[in-house]
Amino acid sequence: MPHFLRHDKMPDVTEVLNYIGGAWQRSESDKVGQRENPACVRDTVAAYQLSTADEARRAIAAAEAALPAWRDTPAPERGKLVQKAAQIVESRRQELAETLTREEGKILPEALGEIDRSLANMYFAAGQGTRLYGRGIPSASGDTLIFTQRVPLGVTAIITPWNFPFAIPAWKTSHALVCGNTLVFKPSSLTPLCAQLLVQCYEQAGIPSGVINLVTGGGDSVGAALIADPRLKGVSFTGSNAVGRRLYAEAATHLCRVQLEMGGKNPVIVLDDADLERAAAAIADGAFGSTGQRCTCTSRAVVRRRVAKGLTEAVAEQAGKIRIGDGLQPGVTMGPLVDDKQRQTVRSYVDRGISEGARVVFQGEADGLDQGYFVPPVIFDQVKPGMAIHQEEIFGPVLAVVEVDDFDEAIRVANHVDYGLSSSVYTRDLGRALEYIRKSEAGMLHVNIPTLGGEGHVPFGGLKGSSLGEKECGPAAMDFFSEEQIIYARP
Ligand code: UN1
Repeated sequence: MPHFLRHDKMPDVTEVLNYIGGAWQRSESDKVGQRENPACVRDTVAAYQLSTADEARRAIAAAEAALPAWRDTPAPERGKLVQKAAQIVESRRQELAETLTREEGKILPEALGEIDRSLANMYFAAGQGTRLYGRGIPSASGDTLIFTQRVPLGVTAIITPWNFPFAIPAWKTSHALVCGNTLVFKPSSLTPLCAQLLVQCYEQAGIPSGVINLVTGGGDSVGAALIADPRLKGVSFTGSNAVGRRLYAEAATHLCRVQLEMGGKNPVIVLDDADLERAAAAIADGAFGSTGQRCTCTSRAVVRRRVAKGLTEAVAEQAGKIRIGDGLQPGVTMGPLVDDKQRQTVRSYVDRGISEGARVVFQGEADGLDQGYFVPPVIFDQVKPGMAIHQEEIFGPVLAVVEVDDFDEAIRVANHVDYGLSSSVYTRDLGRALEYIRKSEAGMLHVNIPTLGGEGHVPFGGLKGSSLGEKECGPAAMDFFSEEQIIYARP
């Protein structure tokens, strides 16, 4: 948990301020939280405002005041300002990535990849300013013209997690802005500095005052006040399923449009004709990359019994090469977990897996790393579909291997979870691959490709308990962040 401190006791720490109506400001609460580097907890990265519910409401008022002029700014102009912000991000790529690593913990190459993904999204969104198309529809009466146009939702909240502290805010805000909305952005309290840096890029690009507002602080105070406010017309949220459900219920009371991204429990199915080396590399990458802290990570390998032993050994061999440490150090291939709470969660799932009868076939070493929130990668086999480690999102470097007797069982097991974000199959059999495509209950399917990630210009999102509302990114983002108006006109 963050410490509660008064400003005057922390002279040397970078202080993240709120940004409301174009002015950077401290919270009236006079309380700040503190964020430490998860790889070295003595290194304080930032202090951030523990804002009040009133400040969240004030940010909504600022966004509401800025709305008419922003809505009337031609969409291509809005796009140009987002493009300019992207150019500023690009010019600061290395520095932003280093801050990201220091604040969130992922290794520098992953952080650089995240900045590049942010750029792909921002440039795509900027171009959408010239493609905010409506439709022309033939009328049944000869003298009537029917067409549609896209209009913004209005004041929109952007509520984001810590695990992609730059890319998720970048892709949500860029599309929302180009569509003409004005925003209140509440980032995770674990990554306030990345949030401030992104908003500074928008400010420097010339986004007018009040169009994007930043308010840091707790979900119970800032987040709850935003969602309860009837002036809020849209909210795009990425985070846990439990919070997403509560948010959806509250927003529904005033008919606020909601987009939720809520995680996954993604399987890789390995059939007995698969290229096992490729499959093992994809599973290790998927399970242990970003320390398992991404919603598209691979948390389950569903493997034909005949190849299970060889496959598991090959994944363990990959896991054995992982070098855990501070992500800013060259040669380190896996960073820490984000905080102590997450470390306890991961450890308790490992204990639970053991007590439910799964077997630890591999456990790496994270010795001598007690200055940060490090955990070793863990591989379980003898996992059964009912076990918690098979059902629940762990968000850590823990892989569950389930053996199955045939393809049908593989599909059944892969689908046997509440989530449905990403899935993958490794096979050389085109018929099987197509059958998997017909039957997988995930939003993003992969054939001989890891479950991870997605390209910046392509829609992103899941099915079942993973997502709600339109997909994010790519052309789909516009469907969430704008309304279609239908116009009938006669001379
Ligand atoms: C990715 O895994 O590449 O919170 C993107 C998340 C997702 C976005 C992840 N909504 O992890």
